[in-house]
Amino acid sequence: LREHEEFTKVKNISKIELGKYEIDTWYFSPFPPEYSNCDKLFFCEFCLNFLKRKEQLTRHMRKCTYKHPPGDEIYRSGSLSMFEVDGRKNKIYGQNLCYLAKLFLDHKTLYYDVDFFLFYILCECDDRGCHMVGYFSKEKHSEEGYNLACILTLPPYQRKGYGKFLISFSYELSKKEMKVGTPERPLSDLGLLSYRGYWTRVLLDIIKKHRGNLSIKELSDMTAIKTEDVISTLQSLELIQYRKGQHVICADPKLLERHLKAAGKGGLEVDPTKLIWTPFK
Ligand code: ACO
Ligand code: ZN
Repeated sequence: LREHEEFTKVKNISKIELGKYEIDTWYFSPFPPEYSNCDKLFFCEFCLNFLKRKEQLTRHMRKCTYKHPPGDEIYRSGSLSMFEVDGRKNKIYGQNLCYLAKLFLDHKTLYYDVDFFLFYILCECDDRGCHMVGYFSKEKHSEEGYNLACILTLPPYQRKGYGKFLISFSYELSKKEMKVGTPERPLSDLGLLSYRGYWTRVLLDIIKKHRGNLSIKELSDMTAIKTEDVISTLQSLELIQYRKGQHVICADPKLLERHLKAAGKGGLEVDPTKLIWTPFK
């Protein structure tokens, strides 16, 4: 689906049922033609199969054996878990997830070819199962150095810190790969806000604690944030100057303190010691 085609398409499915939530959709998503005249779709919250009628979902839920996303649980802390799903091994799940995600993602091309992607699904777990709250996708091999392709927090779970948790997780994976990374462009408004917030907090925390000189390269190595993103963040905070062909960090303590206050609380942290994962080969 090309971008210009997407703009001319009207939103089709106006709401979905997923787990205990009914959710209003935001954008068009290219569901197969037989679903295109449905106003509402019913998703199985575990395998992400979608159905036209509530009775069909009820029947499905009686025989569906999934209680969590397919794939490996690679992180658990309290009731939060992350699952890694290989799009090649779980094609239908990957495709269902893309259809679902596109309902909330504008200006993103939908990849039908899920083979080349890994999906990281964040869940809140209880005795009934692991309930998806959001996810991000990642190319198995990115020529451009992207460490994240698409990110979504489902609307009922937004603004609780899950977005920044997912972003932080994507950088923890990059650290394990010994690489720096950056999200695929373009970013949505909410995507940019979330990334700016994450980059700001992480960089300010290091600059504040650090004694002595610190270069852009060192900041990038410590955080796995690509140097361009380090520079643009520090520029927007006016903590950087360009002198004699070089970027120099000038951490005026008063300005630093003001920015740190504005950046607010850290929120949901990723505990790197709880990540059990080896890079994709
Ligand atoms: N209004 C204003 N600021 C917001 C809003 C909002 N509605 N939502 C998020 N933010 C900002 C805030 O600065 C917030 O930090 P704060 O709460 O400390 O002030 C920051 O973003 C992150 O908030 P989180 O709670 O961590 O993020 P959330 O779980 O809401 O998820 C996300 C953010 C993933 C971008 C979500 O808004 C979403 O899924 N949007 C729809 C899909 C999308 O646009 N994805 C990004 C596309 S770009 C890409 O995929 C590479
Ligand atoms: Zn199911």
